[in-house]
Amino acid sequence: MAGPAVLWEWIDERVNVRELLTPLMEKTVPRHRFSHWYLLGGVTLFLFGVQVCTGLLLLLYYRPSTTEAYESLRYITNRVEFGWLVRSLHSWSANLMIFMAFAHMFSVAFLRAYRKPRELTWISGMVLLFLCLGFGFSGYLLPWNTLSFFATKVGTEVAGRVPIVGHPTMVFLRGGEDIGSATLARFFSLHVVILPALTVGMVLLHLLLVQKFGMSVPPSVEKHRSRFGNEVRFFPNYFLRDVMAWSVAFAALLILATLYPAELGKKADPFASAPAGIKPEWYFLAQFQTLRLLPATILHLDGEVIGILGFGLAGAAWLGLPLLEARLGKNGGRWTRVAMLAGLVYLASMTLYAYLTT
Ligand code: HEM
Repeated sequence: MAGPAVLWEWIDERVNVRELLTPLMEKTVPRHRFSHWYLLGGVTLFLFGVQVCTGLLLLLYYRPSTTEAYESLRYITNRVEFGWLVRSLHSWSANLMIFMAFAHMFSVAFLRAYRKPRELTWISGMVLLFLCLGFGFSGYLLPWNTLSFFATKVGTEVAGRVPIVGHPTMVFLRGGEDIGSATLARFFSLHVVILPALTVGMVLLHLLLVQKFGMSVPPSVEKHRSRFGNEVRFFPNYFLRDVMAWSVAFAALLILATLYPAELGKKADPFASAPAGIKPEWYFLAQFQTLRLLPATILHLDGEVIGILGFGLAGAAWLGLPLLEARLGKNGGRWTRVAMLAGLVYLASMTLYAYLTT
């Protein structure tokens, strides 16, 4: 027997790998006209893997201090072999991962995969989305350039406007009243220790729940189950489809990272005034634009505070979607579909509006 086969037999004799893998080997995926939407969660997972690998490589040279962060990234970009590519892959993959997490979320929402018994799968997915946004927000400051400095300043200021808990949260995030070394240290530990640990735990829980309940079948397909319903084995059949989707995602990522490498901009100067046109990353643009459009006061209350509380409420309602729909009874599905469509149109149009006007 060849070396690897001997090693495999040796391990299998002790830990019985075959038995551990049985649930995966026996897993099946429903085959119907919407089955390709099941690929999106896998692509999000693949991109998370790319983030971890490229992030670890960046850590070999990155230095988390206000005097060295920008210089270390300039070194990575200009001096380290393929450093520019690793940095660009990390930046593009972050954007694609957040986009894919949103696409996956809306696809499971429209297929109504959040219904009983998958409420906890939905809630763990929402936590993952918030964690992804946290990665984006904390990572944005790390290059310590003008754009990242002022966008973080504005972002933490917005958090600070929330009544009662806002100011302590802002001070906690910044490590003081202003953005400085303490802020960079906090954002760095959030980005490379706290968020990855929470995300890995949450991804495992999410996948465990997906494995436990199996893939859902949308109601429109359920009705014609005898006509459309049949199952395909996850391993190797559906897994190979997953691998194909990952290859397409990776090819797109490589093309974007080489044709549009991540820029570094100018080093942050905390004493300079904020340049014109400061805006957050695209995934916060809808909220940013809404706050800009709101009047200064609404019913004698601060317009921005009303806006922030509105986002909080909408986020909480979206998190509790499966429970809310169940409470609405028979017509729940129709109402949630209207709310989803309205949410999607609102996010897309506000993002576009902000993009075109800033
Ligand atoms: C880092 C982010 C995420 C990763 C890596 C991830 C991964 C996955 C994977 C691999 C699957 C199985 C294949 C599929 O249905 O696509 C899945 C299913 C699922 N995910 Fe996610 N997911 C993430 C975020 C989310 C979000 C934001 C939501 C919604 C709030 C969500 C809700 C669900 C639900 C309900 C299912 C079950 C689908 C069904 O049974 O048909 N996930 N996820």
